[in-house]
Amino acid sequence: MENLLNTAHPMSGYVPMLISAWEQGNDVICRGASHLLFAHIPEGNPVAVVDAIIALTHFDVAAPAFGIGTCWAGFVAAAATSYEPLQKELDLPAGRKSAYAMMFGHPQYKIYGIPLRKPLEVMWQ
Ligand SMILES: Cc1cc2nc3c(=O)[nH]c(=O)nc-3n(C[C@H](O)[C@H](O)[C@H](O)COP(=O)(O)O)c2cc1C
Repeated sequence: MENLLNTAHPMSGYVPMLISAWEQGNDVICRGASHLLFAHIPEGNPVAVVDAIIALTHFDVAAPAFGIGTCWAGFVAAAATSYEPLQKELDLPAGRKSAYAMMFGHPQYKIYGIPLRKPLEVMWQ
């Protein structure tokens, strides 16, 4: 985040707020999640990123059935494309790159705020 301060990067305007939250002990990047999942793809394949997003979306949808909470990790995913220390830490197999990332773990909160839906009316003809 500090590398993006005062640059032409599209995230540059947001980073002061993110850095300040982090310095105050508020993890607005990973929300204190215990795990990060990375979908990685072959370098040089322009369509593989869609496969990676589909794979993560399936994980996202299936996780609650196993009591697991998820959150898309857009900031981490962005860092994984360009921030060398993170790339070293990931140590992906040769010829592979991160396409996107997702946080997951046992959720701290239970969601009660899902809007009620009107009963579905189905007419069979
Ligand atoms: C592509 C994408 C990237 C996201 N990246 C992050 C992130 O890096 N950190 C974070 O805390 N939430 C991230 N989120 C989650 C959003 O902050 C938000 O919680 C989520 O979209 C659900 O919003 P809603 O509950 O208002 O519908 C991301 C969401 C999406 C769709």
